[in-house]
Parts: sequence; C-alpha cells; structure tokens
Amino acid sequence: MTKSIIQSQRPEKTEEHRREQRLIVTIDGPAGAGKSTVAKLLALRLGYLYLDTGALYRAVAWKVRQAGVDPSDHEAVATLLPATTVTMEYRPERARVSVDQQDVTEEIRTPDISRLASVVSAIPAVRDWLLPVQRRIGSAGGVVAEGRDLGTRVFPAADVKFFLEADMEVRAARRHRELTAAGHAAPLNETRRDIHTRDTQDRSRDIAPLVPASDASVVDTSVLTAEQVVDRMMAVIAAKL
Ligand code: DC
Repeated sequence: MTKSIIQSQRPEKTEEHRREQRLIVTIDGPAGAGKSTVAKLLALRLGYLYLDTGALYRAVAWKVRQAGVDPSDHEAVATLLPATTVTMEYRPERARVSVDQQDVTEEIRTPDISRLASVVSAIPAVRDWLLPVQRRIGSAGGVVAEGRDLGTRVFPAADVKFFLEADMEVRAARRHRELTAAGHAAPLNETRRDIHTRDTQDRSRDIAPLVPASDASVVDTSVLTAEQVVDRMMAVIAAKL
C-alpha cells in the first residue's frame, strides 16, 4: 500500500506518527480471548477510539427482549430495527450505550443478553443494519475496532488485523471473573458452557462467521498478560508502518 511505503521511508516512527496516521486496527476472536481489555489498552496507547462492536449486537438483543419479540422470528426482529435508535457515548473506561434514549450500559452485560446477542447476530437483517453504523464510526481511521468480523467484513482493508485466541479453560475463567466482579456470579461450569455454545454459534453461522482474516496476526493470549499482548501488537503495528 502506498501509505505504508511512504511511512517506511520515515527516519523514525514515533507514537506521534502512529497517532497522526489514524490507522484502522481490528481485533477479532472468541469470547474471553481478552479482546476488550487489550483493545482498550491499545486504543489508549495509540490515542485512538475504541470501538466495541459487541455492544451494538448486545443493544439489539436488549431491544428484542424488551419488545418481547421471539428471536427465531427473523421478520419480526427485522421490523423492530428501523424504529430503534442505538447510541454509543465514548468514555475512557467504557462507552455508555443507550437504546431509544434509555441507558442500557450495565444491563447489556448479563449472561442472558450475551446468549441472546449471539442468537440475534446470526440474523442477516441485524448484521446488515449494524454494518454501516460500524463503518461510519470507524472508517475515518484512528480506531481500534473489536468483535468477530471486523477484519473479514466490516473493515476488510484495515491497516492492521489481529485475531486473539486462548484455551477454553482460560477463557472460561476470565469471563467468570469478569461476571463475578460485575455482580453476575454463576457457576464456572455454566460460564464455560455458555461461551462454548456462543463460540460454536458465532463460528458456524452462515454470514460473517468468526474466522481469522487471511492477513490477520494470530495471537494466543492464554499465558500472556494484557500488557504483554499489547506489546506484541505494538511491535506488529510498528513493523507495518
Ligand atoms: O464481543 P461480545 O461478547 O460483546 O459480543 C456479543 C455477541 O455479539 C457475540 O457472541 C457475537 C456477536 N458479535 C458479532 O456477531 N459480531 C461482532 N462484530 C461483535 C459481536
């Protein structure tokens, strides 16, 4: 890419250069692989916006539940969307998410909504509705966008793509810790079963399934701290400039 060639001729590549370049960085991977923690840290280091696309699917799931719509009725779900407003208000710690002016930031983090988000995310009308929203937020660059299909579908021409993996036991334990800290304690077995079911659904759906983009750097985070993962990512980003 012309942009990379020009940049590689610069004598030094400082943090400031990276910030000015306003790259699109994508991070995909299964639940519990550490995407959110790492994406937030990486966005901080780069001075970029952190785009949590899972929150958008969670917001749609919240609306489906609120409206009492059966998620297997795709037409009914599709009918809900045009009259729905989802907004994300950026905050350093976590974006505030509202649906139809109601703040749902905390409510969309329950295990129930996680399950429903995975189900509604397989509905083509939902993905089609959220695609331009994500592109509008991220296409100007200067963004670290995290989810399942960012490198393959939302930003196929992203400057740098990552795919995070981790052992199932590590992912289950991480998610369990997060849920417990947020006051949604459930037995570890249940958390493990939930993320296994969600992964199977996310990987096997017909549209935009969870797969690494062919040009993504795959990082196994099982035995790494978040800081170590971010250091590796920064090395990949620096090498690509
Ligand atoms: O990242 P998360 O756990 O908040 O995502 C919740 C669900 O949303 C996930 O199980 C699948 C779906 N999702 C998706 O299909 N595509 C994305 N880019 C992000 C999330």
